[in-house]
Amino acid sequence: MLLAFVSIHLVAFVPCGRRDQSDPISLDKGDALMNCRDNINQADKPLEDALLNDWHVVATSEEVVPGKLVPATLFDRDLVIWRDSEGQAYVWEDLCIHRGARLSKGFIQSDRVVCPYHGWNYDGTAQCVLMPASPNEKPMKKAKAIPHHVKEAYGFIWACMGEPAQDIPEFPEWDDPSYKKVVCGPYEFKSGYRAVENFIDPTHFPFVHAGVNGIMDQPDPIGAYDVYEENGILSSSEVQVTQPYGDPREVPVTAFYAYKCLRPLVAYFKKRLIISDPERASEGSPDDRFCTFLTVQQVSETRSIVRICCAMNFSPQPSDADVRRRQDLVYAQDSEIVDTQRPERIPVDLRMELHHRTDLLGQKYRMWLRNMGVSYGTV
Ligand code: FES
Ligand code: FE
Repeated sequence: MLLAFVSIHLVAFVPCGRRDQSDPISLDKGDALMNCRDNINQADKPLEDALLNDWHVVATSEEVVPGKLVPATLFDRDLVIWRDSEGQAYVWEDLCIHRGARLSKGFIQSDRVVCPYHGWNYDGTAQCVLMPASPNEKPMKKAKAIPHHVKEAYGFIWACMGEPAQDIPEFPEWDDPSYKKVVCGPYEFKSGYRAVENFIDPTHFPFVHAGVNGIMDQPDPIGAYDVYEENGILSSSEVQVTQPYGDPREVPVTAFYAYKCLRPLVAYFKKRLIISDPERASEGSPDDRFCTFLTVQQVSETRSIVRICCAMNFSPQPSDADVRRRQDLVYAQDSEIVDTQRPERIPVDLRMELHHRTDLLGQKYRMWLRNMGVSYGTV
């Protein structure tokens, strides 16, 4: 009885990868090795719950076509994304439980992922259903790939590597047919948090986007605005700015931005627009809105991929190419400056940088991250 008790504890506490090589492998220690699959996260540090139990975009829907294995990295964990012939998407650790080979180097056959090393076949439940070296043997139950929660929404594939604490954030215009939607990107940045903070910062427009989102010789004074937190979402009241090329129609506008930080790495704005050139005013309507839903895949602490979905209700609507041309320009201008910021990891201690009244939303964003316990990619 005592021996059984000791044995169980050995199984529970033999550290993964640190087995004493002189020990013969008992059945119990063999189980302990298999239990390593629960601890394989391919990264040095555990990820904090605020990020682990959240949804993150890892690809656009378009990037993942049936029959193709797509490698991706999220918070230093290597993933493989694939889609079966019914259209269902999957996100797994990019790791075969047999000998640790990268599944993304294999191939898909009959809706199964085939490992490139010894050909183990994994079905859509991540269970190994065929070991070619012993084709008539039913693979053991533990022969499983490591699947993550997956959802597909707004033109993106989302993964949660822990247990989802909530649903993916809401994008209200997605189901509204009066809005045209265009997915743009990917755009590379160093810090995804600094990319989000830049997205919610209207004071950089006249300088980083001179002639597009602002006028360098006549920067807009930014009036007082409110920031409030409700249901876990950080929102601002409208901020007014002048934009010579404020939307894909290439018209000068007075714009009113209302921002939302929906998650640490997901943000949104809804922009109300009034065409400011009297000769072109008839092209617009008081109901005109341009919205952007911004997502970040934080690849490593200092590397990220931004993907956005723009929604607009203009009449007539611009072409997809017009929308993408303007967004490609704006995000290239942003990354050129944002990627020069030091430290590369965003400081969440407000004392580490200088803040002004007009940076209120950025300050609140950093405090919000800190209060959530986000530490990955921050200092
Ligand atoms: Fe994948 Fe052997 S490592 S089948
Ligand atoms: Fe910008």
